[in-house]
Formats: sequence, structure tokens, C-alpha cells
Amino acid sequence: MVELDGRQDAQGPGAKVMDAPITIRQLEVDDAEAYAKLRREMLLDSPLAFASSPSDDLFASLETTREQLRRAPESVIFGAFDPDLAGAVGLYRDRHVKSSHKAHLWGMFVAPDHRRRGMAADLLNVTLQYARDLTDVTWVQLSVSSAAPAARKLYERSGFRLWGTEPEALRHDGQAVVEYHMALRLSDSA
Ligand SMILES: CC(C)(COP(=O)(O)OP(=O)(O)OC[C@H]1O[C@@H](n2cnc3c(N)ncnc32)[C@H](O)[C@@H]1OP(=O)(O)O)[C@@H](O)C(=O)NCCC(=O)NCCS
Repeated sequence: MVELDGRQDAQGPGAKVMDAPITIRQLEVDDAEAYAKLRREMLLDSPLAFASSPSDDLFASLETTREQLRRAPESVIFGAFDPDLAGAVGLYRDRHVKSSHKAHLWGMFVAPDHRRRGMAADLLNVTLQYARDLTDVTWVQLSVSSAAPAARKLYERSGFRLWGTEPEALRHDGQAVVEYHMALRLSDSA
């Protein structure tokens, strides 16, 4: 478990809040209910940032959520607690032997009331450290849609670089968005 304090207040970059620290930790099967709730919130809050919809999501039921949470260590979800679950991100290692040096980051979300306090940056740092600790994983890949410019900045700030752009990657309610495919070579980051 990682505890992070001295985080920035939403009021401005210089201000600090002195209340309880955000806790970042790997989710366990007992967190299934909280994660399924947050997952539903993310798909409704930002439909064009995620490929899944509530109707086709792997985490739509508690049973499938528990199944996914049992897949560690090859597939993990980290949660940010403040004090309840308010943010999350997932990582899985490619299952094919020839591409098992790659891990994929997915499902980054911070609930609107908790944004701009460094929660996503903390989640990303903890997840990248987890990837570094996996034997022979050298790359982390992700896709971010044009509807999520804040997320793209977050990834660029951590060293992810664009390697491909997919036109009309997602369609929703008469809108189409581009997806940017990005990658980070772990040896290029701290
Ligand atoms: C993207 C998201 C996860 C950021 O969460 P957050 O906790 O507010 O982000 P942080 O406070 O940790 O910010 C880290 C960096 O992200 C970028 N960032 C975050 N919010 C931003 C915004 N509104 N505008 C511009 N850049 C932003 C900045 O580079 C920031 O670093 P800085 O504070 O040094 O400028 C959050 O806005 C979110 O959940 N969005 C909706 C879902 C989504 O787009 N998910 C991504 C799917 S790939």
C-alpha cells in the first residue's frame, strides 16, 4: 500500500491540504462492489474516453468483476481511496509469449470531485512501478481518445509517446473520436 500526502488542493497549485492522505493500493476481490460502482460511473461520465459501454462491459456484474480481480499478478487494478474509492487504473501483461514484454494500461479514471489533486498522476506512478517490477516487461502501451485531452497530457508528462493515430476509433451517439496509441519504454522513465 502506498500513502501519499501533501497533495495539492484544487484551489491552486501552491495550496496544500492537510487532511488524510490519499491511499493507493491494488484492488482485491473484496473491492469488487466499490470498483463496479466506480466503473459504471466512469462509463457514464466519459463515454467517449472508453471503448466499453455499461451494456457490454466486463465489469457489469459483481461476478465478472470478482473474476477480473482474481487475475493478479498478470492483470491488476490499482485504486485511489480518499477515503472511499475515487480513482482507478488497470494494467495487464500481454498473454502471448512473443509479446509478453508489453503491458497495457487501461481504464484510467478519477471521479470529478477529486480531480486536479494529483490522484491520476499518483495512480500512474504506482502502476508504472508495478510494470517495472514485472520480469522482462519493457514497454507499457495505452490508447487515449481525442475526447480525453487531459489524460493525453497526463501520459505525455510521464514520457508516453504517440506512435499511431486511429481515425474514427469509437462511435457514440452520432459522434466519432480518434484514438491515439501511445507507448512508454520503461527504461526511458525513472
Ligand atoms: C484524466 C484524469 C484521469 C486526470 O485525473 P486527475 O486526478 O485530475 O489528474 P492529476 O491531477 O493527477 O493531473 C496530472 C496531470 O494530468 C494533466 N491534466 C489533468 N487534468 C487536466 C486538465 N483538466 N487539463 C489539462 N491537463 C490536465 C496535467 O498534465 C496534470 O499535471 P499538472 O497538474 O502538473 O499540470 C481525469 O480528468 C479523468 O478521469 N477524466 C475522465 C476520464 C478519462 O479521460 N480517462 C482517460 C482514459 S484513457
